[in-house]
Amino acid sequence: MSPAPLLSIRGVKAFYGRIMALKGVDLEVNEGEIVTLIGANGAGKSTLMMTIFGNPRAQDGAIVYGGRDISRLPTHEIARLSIAQSPEGRRIFPRMTVRENLQMGAAVLGGAHYEEDLERVCGLFPRLRERLDQRGGTLSGGEQQMLAIARALMSRPRLLLLDEPSLGLAPLIVKQIFSVIRELNQKEGMTVLLVEQNAFHALRLADRGYIMVNGEITMTGSGADLLRSSEVQAAYLEGGRH
Ligand SMILES: Nc1ncnc2c1ncn2[C@@H]1O[C@H](COP(=O)(O)OP(=O)(O)OP(=O)(O)O)[C@@H](O)[C@H]1O
Ligand SMILES: [Mg+2]
Repeated sequence: MSPAPLLSIRGVKAFYGRIMALKGVDLEVNEGEIVTLIGANGAGKSTLMMTIFGNPRAQDGAIVYGGRDISRLPTHEIARLSIAQSPEGRRIFPRMTVRENLQMGAAVLGGAHYEEDLERVCGLFPRLRERLDQRGGTLSGGEQQMLAIARALMSRPRLLLLDEPSLGLAPLIVKQIFSVIRELNQKEGMTVLLVEQNAFHALRLADRGYIMVNGEITMTGSGADLLRSSEVQAAYLEGGRH
């Protein structure tokens, strides 16, 4: 028997007012996997990521993390369960310095391992080391993205949720960010759920993927199988190998 998944989303619905943004989503992430969620604008990808943190709340179904249904827990309790996210649009603290942003990320650990972890994320993203005293809001887009990921890593997550880490970035930075994700997964066994519009890169990186259309999962399979699928190619890869 295979071990229980680290994260199991079962039949989850979520609403904005009367609009149903998630219509009964099933998705699993096993320990040590990179799983990617692909879909067009407005499909509900970010909503699913946010629902894991309880905002908006899952109205139906269950979100089971480490064997426990977390779908009724308040957001601040979920943040203490070794799940960290780098949300869409980065959402770093613009008036705080890079160092202070990273301290905020480490806060759930009460400051334990702070120096060691600071060293580690600066090793992953050397540009941040050079800018530790610069205000977050003055970083370039790519640097802010690195900071958002680094801040998430400061809490030593077992599960890392990344919402469009490559959005709006130059190809070289995208490559760097994807290679850091691969390294975290391969060297440290970190489990990753990755939302991406850059389907080609994401499916090449991921063990498995899910396709979301209009709040529903329409297809799932290994990254390699989805890359080969003619439906996926037509909808998400057409002309887009960059
Ligand atoms: N706070 C909100 N209030 C009302 N509707 C919302 C809210 N946030 C998202 N929606 C709607 O829910 C649907 C899903 O949005 P969501 O942001 O989850 O999509 P997405 O797949 O992440 O899209 P994108 O690729 O553009 O980031 C969209 O129709 C969107 O307009
Ligand atoms: Mg989104």
